[in-house]
Parts: sequence; C-alpha cells; structure tokens
Amino acid sequence: MTTPNTDSQPIPAPIPKSNTERPRVLSGMRPTGRLHLGNYMGALYNWVKLQHEYECYFFIADWHALTTDYADTSKIDGNINDVLLDFLSAGLDPNLCTIFLQSEVPAHAILHVLLSNITPVTWLERVPSYKDQQEQLKEKDLATFGFLGYPLLQSADILLYKPEFVPVGQDQAAHVEITREIARRFNHIYGSRASAIKDANSDKEKLKAEISQAGAVHEILPEPKVLLTPSPKLPGIDGRKMSKSYDNTILLSEEEPAIRAKLKTMVTDPARVRRTDPGNPDVCPVFDLHKIFSTSEVQAEAAEGCRTAGIGCIQCKGWLADGVVRELAPIQERRRYFQANPGEMAAILEAGSARANVRANETMREVRSAMRLR
Ligand code: TRP
Ligand code: SF4
Repeated sequence: MTTPNTDSQPIPAPIPKSNTERPRVLSGMRPTGRLHLGNYMGALYNWVKLQHEYECYFFIADWHALTTDYADTSKIDGNINDVLLDFLSAGLDPNLCTIFLQSEVPAHAILHVLLSNITPVTWLERVPSYKDQQEQLKEKDLATFGFLGYPLLQSADILLYKPEFVPVGQDQAAHVEITREIARRFNHIYGSRASAIKDANSDKEKLKAEISQAGAVHEILPEPKVLLTPSPKLPGIDGRKMSKSYDNTILLSEEEPAIRAKLKTMVTDPARVRRTDPGNPDVCPVFDLHKIFSTSEVQAEAAEGCRTAGIGCIQCKGWLADGVVRELAPIQERRRYFQANPGEMAAILEAGSARANVRANETMREVRSAMRLR
C-alpha cells in the first residue's frame, strides 16, 4: 500500500454536502481474516444501514492487529484485502461513507503519542480486555507497551474524527468509555479556559480570564457516545457462539454447497433423537438462525413441523440453508464484482484514506494549537 501524503496531493473530492451535515459516526474493525455471519450481523449489517443516515467513517484497524500479532505479521496484508472485500460486498458504499485504512493516516499514530503523555497507566491497566485477552491468548506474550496502549490507540482513532457516535458491540463499550475520559482530560488540560488562566500575566488578568470564561472548558475533542448496535447472538454449527476460534463458522463468502453441507451437520435440539420424536425449536440453535435468515412463513412452518414431528431436521436445515443462501446472494454477487476489479478496490481505499487524512489533519491542527505545539 502506498501512503498518500495529503500535504502534497490534491485535496480529494469532498463527500456530498447532504452527508456532511449529518451527525458523524466512526467505527473500525481489525483485519483478522474473512468475516463470518456472526461478525456480519454484529457490525457490518448495522454499518450498512448507518451510512444512509450519518456521515460515516469506517476503517480497517491494521495497526491494532499488530498489538496481538506482532510476532507473525505475514497475514495482515492479505487480511486487509479480505476485510475490504467483505466491507464492499456487505454493501458499504464508498459514495455514501468513507472507507479507509488506519496505517494510511499517520495522524492516528501521532495523536496516540500526544495522548500517551496525559494518560495514566492505571487507566489502561483497568480496561477489562487488557487482563482478559492476556489470559485468553496465553500463547502470546502480551506484556508489551503496544498491547497496554491498545485502548489509547483506539481513542486516537476515534477522537481524530470527532464523531458523535461510535457504533460497536458491548465488548467495545469500555474502549469508548476510556476514550471519553481521555477527551475530558485533554479538554481539561488544554481547553481554552485553563490555558488563558495559565497565560495571564497578572492577578488582574487572571481574574478577568476566569470570569470571562467561567465554566467554559473549550471542547477541543468532543466526547463521543457509544452507539450499541444490536448484535444478535449467532450460534455456530456446534451450537456455541459463532466464533473463528471455535471453528464453527459460516463465512460471508461461503459457497452455497459449503453452506448446505455445514448446516446439515449443525447441532439441533438434543432431545430430538429420532425422526419421530417431536422437538422444541426454542432450544434449537438451528431455529435461532431461522429467526434471522428465514421468512416468517418458513419459521412458522418449521416450528410447527418440529413440534409435531411433521418434518425431519434435515428438511428443516434445508429450509434454513435456502434462507441463508438467499440473504447472501446479493452480497456474494458484489464480492464477485470486486474480486474481478482489484484496481477499483485499491482506488476506493486510497480515495477514502485521502479523505480521512484531510479530516484527521484538521483535528491535528486544533490539537497542536491547543497544546501550543508547532
Ligand atoms: N478494537 C476494535 C475491535 O477489536 C476495533 C477498533 C479499533 C475500533 N479502533 C476502533 C472500533 C475505533 C471502533 C472505533 O473490534
Ligand atoms: Fe431444530 Fe428444526 Fe430439528 Fe426442530 S426440526 S430440532 S428446529 S433442526
């Protein structure tokens, strides 16, 4: 990837005015490989809807991948491509939102450095994911400065774009919370009231500054709000939560025969042993997927057939597969298009990153000025 330097490049076309007047939204995703249905329902599906109502920035957080995968960077570049392909297939539209790559926007690293100086280490240590991940990923040495700073890099990602909302799942809420705390601290230390008072040459001037700006801490970095996106718990093939680490996923890019084959082996109501045993859809993971991917008619027919032993599980799973295949069809059609047009993908990422650089550099000018840096 080439890094566009916005200082020497022509300013890219702005996104349409109607979009820029909307509340701003930003979210990111680490490039960990092809997305599965759980990832899709938890994030991208919501993002695609948001792009019609907000001025949206969506990015691939490739530097975040380094915080856990620094020892083996071989997959990151390919993963970036896979995630971009998933973004575009899912329906993110570069004409409606800005799609960019974190490492193409140097300001993320710069703001991270500046913010690191005002961030108490204890704030980072008490972010729940810090200890959780270290325990879960025991095979990796995560006692690094970079991993401790993960939430701060995320704060920089967010604050650079001054979004009103950050759409994330519950697992990321703590990261948005620390972002708010960092913004508050930054504004408190570098906000205009504090600096005007510090600058005052005499007590009289100091009093004047205090009175004229009483209570007015200038919001250089507005505190973003978390936008908790609905993330239905999607079961995987083995009935546990769909997750790459359980190897129980169906990918967004999964081919129809694989979708059908995988669903055929999916765990069902364990009480339904024989074809003649009635089952209970309320405790069946297959039915949880029906609720997301099947029409209400099919759901009703499957539930009824299950309870009365009128249908077998294989038939029920076949109906589910029909629904999944139908929902994924337009997504996979876009995937085929972009796969055949890699140049277009590269151009989308380049244009988006250039646009992100403009926005990020604007914030950096304000940050530097508030901090009295050159
Ligand atoms: N930490 C997020 C995740 O693992 C990814 C991320 C990085 C992000 N920077 C962000 C999400 C900024 C929202 C905003 O899913
Ligand atoms: Fe589950 Fe469908 Fe079998 Fe009922 S018929 S147990 S809902 S797979």
